[in-house]
Parts: sequence; C-alpha cells; structure tokens
Amino acid sequence: MVPIPRRSVRSIGEAMVEMAPVGAGQYRRGFAGDTFNTAWHMAQWLGAVAEVGMITCVGQDALSDAFVAEMAADGMTLAGVSHDPLRHMGLYMIQLDGVERSFHYWRETSAARHLADDGAVLARALDGVGLAHLSGITLAILPAAARETLFAVLSEFRAGGGVVSFDPNIRPRLWASRTEMQETITRMLAGCDIALPSLDDERAHFGDPDAEAVLARMAGLGVAEIVVKDGAGPVTIHDRGATEVFATPPLTNILDTTGAGDAFNAGYLAARLMGDDVARCVAAGQRMAAAVLAHHGARASKEALAALRAPVARS
Ligand SMILES: Nc1ncnc2c1ncn2[C@@H]1O[C@H](COP(=O)(O)OP(=O)(O)O)[C@@H](O)[C@H]1O
Ligand SMILES: [Mg+2]
Repeated sequence: MVPIPRRSVRSIGEAMVEMAPVGAGQYRRGFAGDTFNTAWHMAQWLGAVAEVGMITCVGQDALSDAFVAEMAADGMTLAGVSHDPLRHMGLYMIQLDGVERSFHYWRETSAARHLADDGAVLARALDGVGLAHLSGITLAILPAAARETLFAVLSEFRAGGGVVSFDPNIRPRLWASRTEMQETITRMLAGCDIALPSLDDERAHFGDPDAEAVLARMAGLGVAEIVVKDGAGPVTIHDRGATEVFATPPLTNILDTTGAGDAFNAGYLAARLMGDDVARCVAAGQRMAAAVLAHHGARASKEALAALRAPVARS
C-alpha cells in the first residue's frame, strides 16, 4: 500500500440538501452526498489527527451557509469550498412507501457541477493535501470540459506525491450514455491509486462475474490497490500483485442500507491515512459501515462514531 504523505484529505464532489420524511408530508432537512458522506465520517473518526474537507461548490444563500456552518461545527475544514453567487446546492427528497425508499433529485443546475471549471482554483485547493477522494458521481455531474480539467489537475497532484482514491459508484441515470460512463470511469481508474468499487455495480455495468474479475480488470489498468466491496459478502483486495479475502462480520441490526459503501470507504481510508495494515483498514471500513447500517440515513450517529473512534485516533 502506498503511504499517504500528509494527514490532509479532501473529497471532491457534491453535497446536496436532503429532505428525509419524518411524518405525513413533513421532512427533516439534512445534507448528504456520497463523497461528502465519506469525508464527514473520516472527519468524525479522525478528529484533530487529520484535516478533512471537501472540494466542492455551493451557493451564496442561507441554505448553503447552513451547510458550511455544519461542516465547520463537525470539525471539517472549509478550505476547498467555493461559493457560486448564481447557483444553489442540489436537493433530493426521500419518498417512503412502506419500507421501500425512493429518491427524487433536483441537481441538474447545482453549483457543484462547476467545482472543476477553473483548473487553477482546483490545483490550489489540492495544494498540501495528501489524499484526494472522488467518485463516479463526481465525474458524472461535471461538464465534459471540467472533467478534462479535473483529470489534468489530478495527474499533477499525483506527480507531486498525492494519493487519489476513487469509488466508481455507478449511477446510470447521471450519465449521458453507457459508453460515456464506461470510458470515463476507465480513464479515472487508470489515473488513481486506490479503487473502492462495489461488486454489484461492476457486475451490472462492466459485466464482471465476480470480485476476481473486477480485480483483474482494474489491475490491468494499473490500479495499485483495489478494494472490492460486496454487501454482506467478503471484501476482496488486490495490493500490488497479491490478493486477499476478508470475511464481513454478519449484522443483525440493519435499519437502512443507504451510505454503507461511502462509510466503508471512510473507515478504510481513515485507517490507511494512519498507516494501518490492510486487515485493520478493512476492519475499520466494516465497523464504519456497520454504524451507518444501524442508523436511518446516510450518516451514522455521532454517538456510534465516538464509540468507534478510540482504536484509530492513536498517532
Ligand atoms: N448485509 C450486510 N451485512 C453486513 N455488512 C454489510 C451488509 N451490507 C453492507 N455491509 C457493509 O457495507 C460495506 C459496503 O456495502 P456495499 O453494499 O457493498 O456498498 P454500497 O453501499 O456502495 O452498495 C460492505 O463491505 C460491508 O462492510
Ligand atoms: Mg457504493
């Protein structure tokens, strides 16, 4: 595993306003988004041991201010967050039909789509950062030209010793076509150090029959470290040529599966940042995912996270 040179992390992507039902026609306003969820959990777990934030773009309005205030209150750095005077944060609403959840999005015109418009701003936001994390959702929401800018800036970042982690998080509806999705994700894989795919996604969208096939395809693209998640199934890891399989501890208290993969990424990457070995990184990912699975919504309770924090926050 390549060491992460500095204890400074930025997720690159979109945080949205979340409206979660609390009763008939009533909603609670929160904030969520895959890369934000990962950064937030890392910040909660690492505390003062690391500097964790987001490279994103929000609006210049009261809702965006509330989001930024929550980030700061939860110990995240605001470096990397820019404000667009003309646009707002995207929003999604959760609909409950019995226990089934469906999501409705209003994100086409969100400020975050412009987070990579300016390469110089992006490069400055990554200055001094050790780990940059992004996802297929980040790539999907960007205009084509901004994607090119992001690829170029990430390539410079890696050339300067920075580590890039990438979760393909494939959401077909966000992509213009299957070809565009496959080509863009493949390019990103070729330009990252740590890949964190989920087997379901890769099977459905790249036709990989099993975790070994995912490892083979991604290793073939030059990814040094590949971590394949598979829900209750084992975690399969490729690290510079060697494959290891780790069983997932069974859980009996699953309330909501939203955000399990994002939280796994947070635990795994937080432990990686601390220099832990692969078994400890996987265990950290599984514990973080378990905390989210036992909780409604994409983020675990702070109490559950505080209980998890001690083992990792040693320096
Ligand atoms: N049913 C489950 N039982 C135990 N752990 C689970 C279960 N579902 C998810 N997890 C945990 O969450 C992690 C990520 O789950 P997965 O479903 O693969 O990701 P995603 O949410 O991205 O689809 C797994 O590696 C595992 O640690
Ligand atoms: Mg996922």
